[in-house]
Amino acid sequence: MITQVLVLNGPNLGRLGSREPEVYGSASFDDLAELCRSTGRKLGLSVEVRQTDDEREMISWVHEAADARLPVVLNPAAFTHYSYALRDALAMRTAPLVEVHLSNPAAREEFRHTSVVAAVADGTVTGFGLVSYQLALQAIAELAAEAKPARSPGPELEPEPGDTAP
Ligand code: DQA
Repeated sequence: MITQVLVLNGPNLGRLGSREPEVYGSASFDDLAELCRSTGRKLGLSVEVRQTDDEREMISWVHEAADARLPVVLNPAAFTHYSYALRDALAMRTAPLVEVHLSNPAAREEFRHTSVVAAVADGTVTGFGLVSYQLALQAIAELAAEAKPARSPGPELEPEPGDTAP
């Protein structure tokens, strides 16, 4: 069965391309969404990309993911640094979660050095532009594969003459 993944993006990320291109690059949000979907296809993931400037809407998507056991790649944007409400919603997750950033917040202003969501994620990818999302999707594919129940083992192999015990 194909794994569904939500790629959720917070405030101002819909403005990619025109928003501080020296920090966030020249690709548009549509370019980002298309790259996520095509990367997903190569990894066997069905990727849906969303963006909101509204904290309430973002939290409702996180609840939806928890209820449906959907893995999430999340760029919380500025919510990263102060939204305890988003952090608490993410703590209810039931599937893998990877935090992602285009820029490297640790190399920027002091207020960006704190992520209130990092501790409830499986991991964080920062600083690689659109590639951050590709790496995050790769991590989700690995985590989802680990979480799948193992297929029933085949018949036990009889030891061949000359085999030594491990
Ligand atoms: C960002 C980094 C945040 O500090 C900032 O508020 C954003 C974008 C990033 O992707 O680099 O909006 O999450």
